[in-house]
Amino acid sequence: MKFRALQLAKIKKGTRILMRVDCNVPVQNRHVEAQSAWRLEQTLSDIVAYQKRGAIIIIAGHLGRPDGEVKLSLSLKPIARWYEQKLNTRVELIKDPTSLSAVDKIKSLLPGSVVLLENLRFFPGEEANGSRFAKALSKLADVYVNNAFGVCHRKHASVYAITKYLPGYAGSILINEAAKLGAKRNHPFVFILGGVKLETKMPTLLRLGKEADTILVGGGVAIAMSATQQKKVLQIKNQNFSRSELSLAKLAIKKFKKKLILPVDFVCVRDRKTQNILSGHVVTTDQILDVGSATIKLFASSMKSAKTIVFNGAMGSLQKGAQAGTEAIARGLPITNKKQVIVGGGDTVGFLQGKELLNHFSFVSTGGGAMLAFLAGEKLPGLEALKIK
Ligand code: 3PG
Repeated sequence: MKFRALQLAKIKKGTRILMRVDCNVPVQNRHVEAQSAWRLEQTLSDIVAYQKRGAIIIIAGHLGRPDGEVKLSLSLKPIARWYEQKLNTRVELIKDPTSLSAVDKIKSLLPGSVVLLENLRFFPGEEANGSRFAKALSKLADVYVNNAFGVCHRKHASVYAITKYLPGYAGSILINEAAKLGAKRNHPFVFILGGVKLETKMPTLLRLGKEADTILVGGGVAIAMSATQQKKVLQIKNQNFSRSELSLAKLAIKKFKKKLILPVDFVCVRDRKTQNILSGHVVTTDQILDVGSATIKLFASSMKSAKTIVFNGAMGSLQKGAQAGTEAIARGLPITNKKQVIVGGGDTVGFLQGKELLNHFSFVSTGGGAMLAFLAGEKLPGLEALKIK
């Protein structure tokens, strides 16, 4: 896949660049913690490079899902403060990017200035891929750059419609993601699938499952699959699997029977005590938190000879503090130059960054859903718009 790369753009002193970034990171007490900023950090190099060349950078992004309404808790103010610190430059937040005053403000900026537009999803036109909203955004800039791989699977105004109104280019994040995720996967290829929703993971499982030699399953996805295998696990405490989820689990088991490895034990809460229980012995009153110690060993040995590993989704409930499975799997990954080890998914990456484990991977994707969609072979609107056809 070849893109109109940002390097091809004629950028002079004072050229206004509208740069779409993925700034959807956890914000706590109106502050971006260092351990949650990995996604934002990736956006810095293009911003700094073009700021140094005297361009005016208009950063645009979203936070959460405010559904077209202004929600102060999802304001990008904390993101502006984060950029201000990292760039050592004043970064003003433009509250209404559709206003004439925003156009005038940006026209008055000096070369090298940086501003941030308020959460694009405060405006209904963004998610509707509205042409009026896209046109209004285009009035702010001379050139559009997409550096938000994480939102390329969304046909939104700042990702897709905008490219009709401004010359559009792909930033270095986009180009790097497409190259790394699109690279040939050498065999043996192990796909590690975790996380909660099988529904969202199914297209990727169907596509990568076909190609993979081994599929290791953890997290809620594994519980749904174990549930369909062992009737007594069906009503596991606090696990409300929908019928459709269970029939997907059945389908996955049927399709990939020979290469699918499910947990042989789980960490569960039973009688208020956390204990390791063999999966066949789990009862309906147990609360499953994580994959168990025998599963960790089994998964580690299954990964040993792999030449490609794709890791998506946590092995246990990270929010409930059940982190051991995910951490052990990441620590057990083979780190050599010859193996391609890819990880993605906002929560998993954030957790692994906190544990200083990102160096166990040869590539860390900035995308969650976008990475899955790309690996599943879907056409991503954001990439399609900037592809050289
Ligand atoms: C992400 O966090 O994966 C991206 O920012 C996309 O967010 P969304 O799923 O709310 O569109």
